[in-house]
Amino acid sequence: MLEATKIKTEIPGPKSRALMDRRRNAVSSGLGTATPIFASEAKGALLTDVDGNTFIDFGGGIGVLNAGHTNPRVVEAAKEQLDRFTHTCYYVTQYEPYVELAEKLNALAPGDSPKRSFFVNSGAEAVENAVKIARSYTGRPAIIAFENAFHGRTLMGITLTSKVDPYKKSFGPYVPEVYRVPAPYPYRCPAGKDCSGGCQGDCFGALEKAFVSYVDPGSVAAIIVEPVSGEGGFIPFPDFYLRKLRELCDRHGIVLIVDEVQTGFGRTGKMFAIEHSGVVPDLVTTAKSLGGGLPIAGVTGKAEIMDAVHTGGLGTTYGGNPVACAAALAVLETFEEDNLLARASVIGDRVMGRLRDIQQKHPDFVGDVRGRGPMAAMELVKDAESRTPDKERTAAIVESALQEGLLLLTAGQYGNVIRTLTPLVITDDELEEGLNILSRAVDAAA
Ligand SMILES: Cc1ncc(COP(=O)(O)O)c(C=O)c1O
Repeated sequence: MLEATKIKTEIPGPKSRALMDRRRNAVSSGLGTATPIFASEAKGALLTDVDGNTFIDFGGGIGVLNAGHTNPRVVEAAKEQLDRFTHTCYYVTQYEPYVELAEKLNALAPGDSPKRSFFVNSGAEAVENAVKIARSYTGRPAIIAFENAFHGRTLMGITLTSKVDPYKKSFGPYVPEVYRVPAPYPYRCPAGKDCSGGCQGDCFGALEKAFVSYVDPGSVAAIIVEPVSGEGGFIPFPDFYLRKLRELCDRHGIVLIVDEVQTGFGRTGKMFAIEHSGVVPDLVTTAKSLGGGLPIAGVTGKAEIMDAVHTGGLGTTYGGNPVACAAALAVLETFEEDNLLARASVIGDRVMGRLRDIQQKHPDFVGDVRGRGPMAAMELVKDAESRTPDKERTAAIVESALQEGLLLLTAGQYGNVIRTLTPLVITDDELEEGLNILSRAVDAAA
């Protein structure tokens, strides 16, 4: 038996199967699920299902659990707040944890100029509001987004998102005045260049060309970018590309929105992924690991831009709920006290090293290994020559890893990317064991 994982039944076990039957009659089938198991409890990087099987979690609730499942500081802070009050609506009666969280994020976000924050419930809502703020500040309508982007599932979110099935299909018409440009992707260069020596940024020309062919830069409110495309397949934007983007925005008075919903809070080894490039964004969207498992998201940005909105123009009933604010403050404390950023770099080196080993062993179908820090991934193809995406083999690897006790998630336009979103509190042994399972699962799919 493996050390960290304890697999007692076939997966899914009888209790999960029974719950699945109930789910079929109760929950919309429009809601997809990555695994057939039901959780019972979780701690750190381990999750136990209702049948008593324990899994190493390399998915982290899709990047929400950088500080770990049921992080003791988060649980303690949330409990303390639950005992005092659970909700007032910040519009009706304000409370200190909200202000303190805003102060902390303003200090942490890149750039020295005065900043402001405000809070909502989900990443998509943060994106919606960042767009509203950029439009209000500039008085302009248009937004530019990238290929491979994912920005959420609200109507503006799916409009900005660049994957049809399952996100956009049948949900149109989309929001007007959104323009899409190619994104750097060295393994599949949109400019058709050989990027084996590294991305040269040839696709940046397409962005400049968009100002000739599609939209007047004078009517563009914002460009929105994930510093590492998340759902798109863990494709980092090169630092020089992000700096060019900053210059372009400055030249045309365009607001640069950096979507750090997935990349934020240590996912790439820095608090925010944009820090690797030295670029100071105008607005940053945050969510996921900010709340350590409680739903909270935010927009943080330059005071001049954030304060341009008329009073009352921003708000939600639950946004910045006091329990979620208390949890988020505990997450930030955990980063500081437990030095999670340093740990993130160690994990990143280890994961990337092992993924490269796997690729060396299977160069025929592990086409690309990439990422930034512990936000690492491998792209699977039918063969090295054609680079045809291999969704079936990807699914087989994820399934055989699950049977051995490792939770994995896929990503990418073709569902052919395996990504790692390990909690940063994962122990060395758990990490090692998870990577061993992954390696065996890839061997088995050869
Ligand atoms: C970069 C990015 N933006 C926005 C979102 C949407 O966040 P939420 O699912 O909390 O609405 C996600 C979710 O995966 C994301 O990765």
